[in-house]
Order: sequence, then structure tokens, then C-alpha cells
Amino acid sequence: MAENQKILSIDDLPGVGPATADKLREAGFDSIEEIAIASPTELATAAEIGESTASKIIIAARKAADIGNFETGDMLLERRKTVERITTGSKTFDELIGGGIETQAITEVYGEFGSGKTQIVHQMAINTQLPKEDGGLNGSVIMIDTENTFRPERIAQMATALKLDTNDVLKNIYVARAYNSNHQILLMDKAMDMAKEIKDTDKPARLLIVDSLTAHFRSEYVGRGTLAERQQKLNKYMHNLLQFGNLYNAAILVTNQVMSKPDTFFGDPTRPIGGHVVGHTATFRIYIRKSKGDKRIARLVDSPNLPEGEAIFRITPEGIKDE
Ligand code: GTP
Ligand code: MG
Repeated sequence: MAENQKILSIDDLPGVGPATADKLREAGFDSIEEIAIASPTELATAAEIGESTASKIIIAARKAADIGNFETGDMLLERRKTVERITTGSKTFDELIGGGIETQAITEVYGEFGSGKTQIVHQMAINTQLPKEDGGLNGSVIMIDTENTFRPERIAQMATALKLDTNDVLKNIYVARAYNSNHQILLMDKAMDMAKEIKDTDKPARLLIVDSLTAHFRSEYVGRGTLAERQQKLNKYMHNLLQFGNLYNAAILVTNQVMSKPDTFFGDPTRPIGGHVVGHTATFRIYIRKSKGDKRIARLVDSPNLPEGEAIFRITPEGIKDE
């Protein structure tokens, strides 16, 4: 392709003038990739253009972004071979999810307040650091804490139970507090920088946690008119997370709350926040419910290659344990 034909930013796309480019950016479409995965309706609404124009822009973006190319089965198998797993600390929980939480994938843990999501992420922040023979990946952890619920004291308690040096463990957990959804989005760049910086050390980043994925989005985007924008931003964010996972062969662990769904007549009248955007991008969805005392029930809701099922585990002073 000739140099002058290169499409490097959204302004270079055919049919996108400066005014359209501004509108697209405002709506969160600030890269070729974002536009490539958008639907014509989404794009048409965001940029106030016709759907046929939107379609043309999307097609051009897909070509430029190299998105939607085919990979042969053997290439995919090769990539799958590099996937690794991190133990939860409970054997039955691990078995439910195929041996632990996977790298190059997003695992979403959702449930009511107090169900144990934050406890699980604390445990995973430690387990990631374990040697591979003990179910870890001998790696560091990056955590985006949106609700100020990270507790080093709790890490210390759990680490001591595993006979680990508390200070060593805490040194390998990089925590950033996100004050609002925009800040949360911006912190992705920092997380990428951080991971790049420690990539070639003996403790590369192998787990990225976002606890909670949706809380800021949920409280900031209220009212019907803001839903499309919220979903747009969440969608982009989820794709950035996945990109991080692929780039660093890291596991992505996000937490999500539930809202009640009053129109349900059968089954559980709750569903996770974020709707289809979160649901379709998360590779594993795990629903946590409270049971008697310290017992919890994990239900695997959605997975590409595992049967649905449940596992019972406990949240003990020592951490996540078998029943
Ligand atoms: P939200 O963030 O409010 O949606 O809840 P969550 O799902 O993150 O709940 P969290 O993980 O904070 O779980 C809270 C529950 O875990 C408590 O009700 C306790 O049962 C248990 N828990 C929390 N801290 C400790 C602790 O230090 N020791 C023990 N043994 N249990 C704890
Ligand atoms: Mg929590």
C-alpha cells in the first residue's frame, strides 16, 4: 500500500470528515479497532450519519485494522497451548472451571454484596505468585481497586496461612485506586506500562484484577439516555482487558454485582450488570451465592468448553478452601 493511502487514525477513514471524527471520538470510538467492531447502527447514532455511510466506514476500518482475519485451527491450537491456569485454592472450585482461572481470558465473578468476590480476588492475588507446581504462575499481580476494598492485612493473613513471606507477597501486588469510570479506563494504559516494565523480570504480571468492573459505570450512567454510551465504554474496556491478557499471557479477573430482575418468573431473579457487553466478552462467568455460614456456591454460568455446574467452597480466615 502506498504511504499516502495508509489509514492510521479514524480521520483517515473514507467518509470521516473532521466533524464526524469529533463526534466519534466523543462517543468513545477513538481508534480504528473500535470502529471495526462496532455495528452500523451504533456508529450511525454516535456520529449522526446514515447507516449506509456507517457501514462503509466500518468496512474500511475492518480492512485497516486487520480484524476478522481467519486463523487456521492449528494456529489456534498453538495459541491455546500457551494458556495457563491459576488455582483458586479450592479443588472443587478449580475442577468446576477446568483447573483454575485461565490466562488469555476474562473471568467474571458476579454475585450479591458479601458473596465473597473481593475475598476471591485477594486469594487469587496471592495464588498467582505461587510456583507453578503449587498452582500459581510465579507472577505479579496488577489490581484496579474501584471500591477501596483492597486490604493488605487480609493478604498478610492469607499469605501467612500458605507459609509465604507477607512482605514478598505484598511487593508483587501493584494496586491502583480508580476514582471514577474515566479514571478506571485511563488506568488501563498505566497497567499496560507497568506490565511492560516488569515483563522480563522474574515476576512478570500474570493476573490483572478489576474489582469492581461495573460499580463506577453503574453509578455514573443513570437513566435511559446514557445506557448506550455506558455500554459503548464498557465494551471498549472489556476489549482492552482482553488485549492485556493476550499480550502478557495473563489472566483477567473482574467482579460484577447483580441487579434484581423483577420480570423473572423462573430461576434466579438476579442478573449481572452490564448485560450482553460484559456477558459476551467474558470467557468464564461465575455466579457466587451465599450458603450456610462460611460456605459459598460457585456456579459456572457460561463457558466455551466446560459443562455448567456448581461447586461448594468456603471463605475461611486462611482464605478460600474446600468444603
Ligand atoms: P461487594 O463488594 O459488597 O459486592 O461484596 P463481595 O462479594 O466483594 O464480598 P466480600 O468478598 O467482601 O465478602 C464479604 C464476606 O467475606 C464477609 O461477609 C465474610 O463472610 C467474608 N470475609 C470478609 N473478610 C474476611 C476475613 O478477613 N476473614 C474471613 N474469614 N472472612 C472474611
Ligand atoms: Mg467486593
